Amino acid sequence: MTARSTPIIAPSILSADFARLGEEARAVEAAGADWLHIDVMDGHFVPNITIGPDVVKALRPHVKIPMDVHLMISPADPYIEAFRAAGADMISVHPEAGPHLNRTLGQIRKLGAKAGVVFNPSTDPSVIQWMMDDVDLILVMSINPGFGGQSFMRSQLAKIAALRAMIDAHGRDIPLEVDGGVTPETAKLCVAAGATALVAGTAVFRGGPDAYAGNIAALRGV
Ligand code: DX5
Ligand code: ZN
Repeated sequence: MTARSTPIIAPSILSADFARLGEEARAVEAAGADWLHIDVMDGHFVPNITIGPDVVKALRPHVKIPMDVHLMISPADPYIEAFRAAGADMISVHPEAGPHLNRTLGQIRKLGAKAGVVFNPSTDPSVIQWMMDDVDLILVMSINPGFGGQSFMRSQLAKIAALRAMIDAHGRDIPLEVDGGVTPETAKLCVAAGATALVAGTAVFRGGPDAYAGNIAALRGV
C-alpha cells in the first residue's frame, strides 16, 4: 500500500466561475490544492463542451501546482501535443477515445508529460493489465463523465480496490485518482478503498473563495 497519510486534492475547475478562471485557480492553490484538474470535453465523446488548449495555456501562469488535464475527447491523439505545449503536466485519456491506448500513452510520455488512463464506470481494470509499465496515473470515474454535480457511484469502490491491488502487485507508485461526486463523506470511502488522489468540483467550489481552504481540508480528512 502506498505510504501516504492524506490524499492529493485536485479541484476541478469545471465548477469554478469561468469568467474569473485565473483568479479561481490562484484561489484554490492558495487554499491548499495539490493539482489543478482540467476537464476537456468535445460534445462528441461526452455530451458537453468545455475548454481547449488555449484556456489551459492562459491558466498556466496563474498556478505553480501541476495541471492535471482530463481529456474527454475523441480522437485525443491529434490534440495531445497542443495540451502539452499549453502546460499540461499530466494528460489522461479514456481507452474508448481511440484505437491504440498504448500508442497514445507513449505519445504523452514522449512529450514529457505523465500519461494517465481514465476508467468509465463500465470500463474494466483489465484494460491496463498488460501496460502497467506505461501508465503514470490511473483515474477512476465515479460518475458518467460529462457533467459536474452528479452523485457518487458506490459500485466503483470495488474497482478502486481492484486497481489498488494491481498497482501494489506491480510495485510502482502510480497515483490512483477518483473523479465524480467526491464529498468529504465519499472521499473517506475512496481513500479506504486505496485511492491516493481525489478530484472534486462541487465540493471544493461551493461557498465561494472564502470556503475553499475549509472545503479542501474537509476532503483531505484533516
Ligand atoms: C466530469 C468531470 C469531473 C467533474 C467532477 O466529467 O470529469 O471532473 O468536474 O465534478 P463533481 O466533483 O462536482 O462531481
Ligand atoms: Zn475530470
